[in-house]
Amino acid sequence: MVNDELTAGVIVDDELKKKLIEHARAAQRNAYAPYSRFRVGAALLAEDGSIYAGFNIENSSYPATVCAERVAIYKAISEGRKAFAAMAVTSDSPLPCAPCGVCRQVMMEFAPEMRVLMVGQDSVVERRAKDLLPLSFGADHMSHDRDE
Ligand code: THU
Repeated sequence: MVNDELTAGVIVDDELKKKLIEHARAAQRNAYAPYSRFRVGAALLAEDGSIYAGFNIENSSYPATVCAERVAIYKAISEGRKAFAAMAVTSDSPLPCAPCGVCRQVMMEFAPEMRVLMVGQDSVVERRAKDLLPLSFGADHMSHDRDE
């Protein structure tokens, strides 16, 4: 893990990345995934240094399921956080856990520059959210101004 860099409010160094991954792993243990049995954890680092964790929450009506990433993002947004520096995503898969398309769209809404750490068994793949969803639809495509 490299790429120390100053973002608006928080330096996402290797130590912080490790901490974020630990938070994601801890959240993953509590995942509510009785249907898929695929547990996912996410930990979101806000620019003020606070961390919001989430896990996937499934439902017997499958489409009502919410991914770990969106749980973490919506928790943070609902607590008034608006800027995010990084997110770690973990699962039990040996492959780095890649966010689904819907979560990528939500990341683009709030934090296109955010680093996404996709954690696997032996590796961590890191990308900016905007690089996970090229040519994405966004507010710029809409004809009217948005409120915020
Ligand atoms: N899931 C996540 O929570 N995040 C991802 O990045 C991929 C998929 C969840 C949704 C569902 O509960 C289970 O994993 C299987 O798709």
